[in-house]
Amino acid sequence: MKLTKVKGLQGKLSIPGDKSISHRAVMFGALAKGTTHISNFLSGADCLATIDCFRKMGVEIEQDGTDVKVHGNGLHGLKQPKDMLDVGNSGTTTRLISGILAGQDFEVTLSGDASLNKRPMKRIMIPLKMMGADIESVHGNDCAPLVIRGTKLKGIHYDSPVASAQVKSCALLAGLYADGKTSVTEPVLSRNHTELMLRSFGVTVESQGTTAVVTPPKEMYASDIVVPGDISSATFFIAAGLITPNSCIRLKNVGINPTRDGILRVCKDMGADVTLENVVDSGGEPTADIVVKTSELKGTVIEGEVIPTLIDEIPVIALLAAFAEGETVIKDAEELKVKESDRIALTVDNLVKMGVDAEATEDGMKIRGGNPLHGARIHCKYDHRIAMTFSIAGINAQGETIIEDAECVDVSYPAFYEQLNSLQLS
Ligand code: S3P
Repeated sequence: MKLTKVKGLQGKLSIPGDKSISHRAVMFGALAKGTTHISNFLSGADCLATIDCFRKMGVEIEQDGTDVKVHGNGLHGLKQPKDMLDVGNSGTTTRLISGILAGQDFEVTLSGDASLNKRPMKRIMIPLKMMGADIESVHGNDCAPLVIRGTKLKGIHYDSPVASAQVKSCALLAGLYADGKTSVTEPVLSRNHTELMLRSFGVTVESQGTTAVVTPPKEMYASDIVVPGDISSATFFIAAGLITPNSCIRLKNVGINPTRDGILRVCKDMGADVTLENVVDSGGEPTADIVVKTSELKGTVIEGEVIPTLIDEIPVIALLAAFAEGETVIKDAEELKVKESDRIALTVDNLVKMGVDAEATEDGMKIRGGNPLHGARIHCKYDHRIAMTFSIAGINAQGETIIEDAECVDVSYPAFYEQLNSLQLS
């Protein structure tokens, strides 16, 4: 993909459905009795991998673009798949489905692409083994492929060393099949979509501070889910609107759950012109239209409890920092090293290639804003968020930017380039 400087971005966009919520809607629908209707489903490669896995376990799922009907088999209705389950590039599919599989009465092997099969799975193997699960890494390296032999599970309390919704959700979902309550305490609260959505499927989940407790239900019951727009996807256009001259963009119907809205807090700290309109509640998940205008930005410090609420947005926040006056420091973000790529190293390398004064630190990065950007050839190691971040950089850089493997945006945002083109002033 080739990108060059644009004159401005103006218009409205409907942001595609939230990735985290789309995955969970399919998974919980599959375990429920009755038909779950999902609207505004994210039809990206990651969520399609989740659909594929449950189809292979005997769940009938009809998909027509963003409309999905999951004809659930009930809590104990999954069937052993004939082959290995392919989780593609999706960490969420792998870690959440492992919790569900741990409590079945059959054996499954899970495997993904080269990037997925390097990501750490020990973080879920530890709590699952404490619950009595039989889970093994085929190559003994605590990564996928994983073999999971479903078995009886016991309820536990797990003190998670990481603020990770994937780890928390894995243990809570295994807890659906355990012989007593399962609770998870995290160092800092991570996204709470699992807790919110399990409740709408009839499961008792209590949340207090950074602890969530699930009581194993007799059954789960279908629920209709309207998926809000994904704030992580919206962030590329928030950033684009802020740093591109002559821009004003309205992003419609974006999820602003407080466990996900750190980007809005950072925008405020940086002095950005970002406003929320039409704030409404959509099945426990608040949504709003986000209106963004070109802004003069200033550097900030991002650390501590806000980090899990913007973890996927950090590469693009680093780009905002390159356009801000003064220094931006990002700390406490070592989790970025184990995402779809090492996002600390890859973000900083690519920023530096484009002329930005940036350095990687142990747990984040430092960026001194103000240097003009020049085009470059960007390697994104098939990481969708790196590809999109540097596409927004490319339309604000002198000369030509080439994004290699740009098709990886399909993982979370297949319409990204089409929507970006639709806003460009000629
Ligand atoms: C996700 C949780 C986050 C996030 C990922 C989706 C989820 O990962 O980075 O894109 O849907 O639970 P961690 O919870 O492991 O930080």
